[in-house]
Amino acid sequence: MSTDKPQSPDERLQQEFNRWADAGEGPKMENHHLDITEKTMRRMDLRPGERVLDLGCGSGWATRLLARMVSDWPQGFGQVVGVDISDEMIRQARAASKDFENVMFVIGSAAQIPWEENFFDKVLSVESFYYYPDQDRALAELFRVMAPHGRLFILINLYKDNPYSLQWVPKLMVPVHVRSAAEYVDLLKAHAFENVEYAQIPDDTPTAENYQTTSFHSLDDLKAFKRVGALLLMASKPDVRNPAPGYTVY
Ligand SMILES: C[S@@+](CC[C@H](N)C(=O)[O-])C[C@H]1O[C@@H](n2cnc3c(N)ncnc32)[C@H](O)[C@@H]1O
Repeated sequence: MSTDKPQSPDERLQQEFNRWADAGEGPKMENHHLDITEKTMRRMDLRPGERVLDLGCGSGWATRLLARMVSDWPQGFGQVVGVDISDEMIRQARAASKDFENVMFVIGSAAQIPWEENFFDKVLSVESFYYYPDQDRALAELFRVMAPHGRLFILINLYKDNPYSLQWVPKLMVPVHVRSAAEYVDLLKAHAFENVEYAQIPDDTPTAENYQTTSFHSLDDLKAFKRVGALLLMASKPDVRNPAPGYTVY
């Protein structure tokens, strides 16, 4: 009889993404996600002095880009925190960020973000949200750690409205959520986020004609996937400290 304890969904994710990290996938993801992430960062209106969370930060390349954008004196010395469930990704992120004074990497799950409440002015999450086993719980956690008026930016490549993205689901070793943009908007609203909107962000990087893809049926499908683009979900946390007239907070 096997005495092995069954793995929890988070343990399974940690094991799978540690495997990715060991295979060198962490830094490689920068090539695939940089174009859509830079377009997202331009919408984030990052200011020196802001506190930013990068949830599912992987090897930390985007975390470091964010750190540069919030660090300028004299306006203030912003802080960026990268959180990831994979301890091996976090180890690599720390090793690559030794020159940064305003970056911190923490091992943790989206289901229990290891940070205090009402802290982050901005949150970025790149290609991570559809892996979270309990997306409701992750949104409740994001709501908790975000500052009043904080802004949330969730960028994902896998969603129903980009049918080409569905081609790689059977190749993944962990379960994922596949929802539409409209379903995600409803989910964010159900968690009391405000100003919920979405945009589709095409990936404008050229595709080499000799590029070998294992994720797509053909090079044409990969090109079409990039044209349709990623889903960017945007929302704000309301300021629950100021009740509407007539309401009293005890
Ligand atoms: C596809 S990678 C993207 C990494 C990085 N954002 C990038 O663009 O290079 C997904 C990342 O999400 C992390 N992740 C998956 N599920 C998570 C969870 N429940 N909590 C925190 N991080 C998680 C993984 O460990 C992995 O590093």
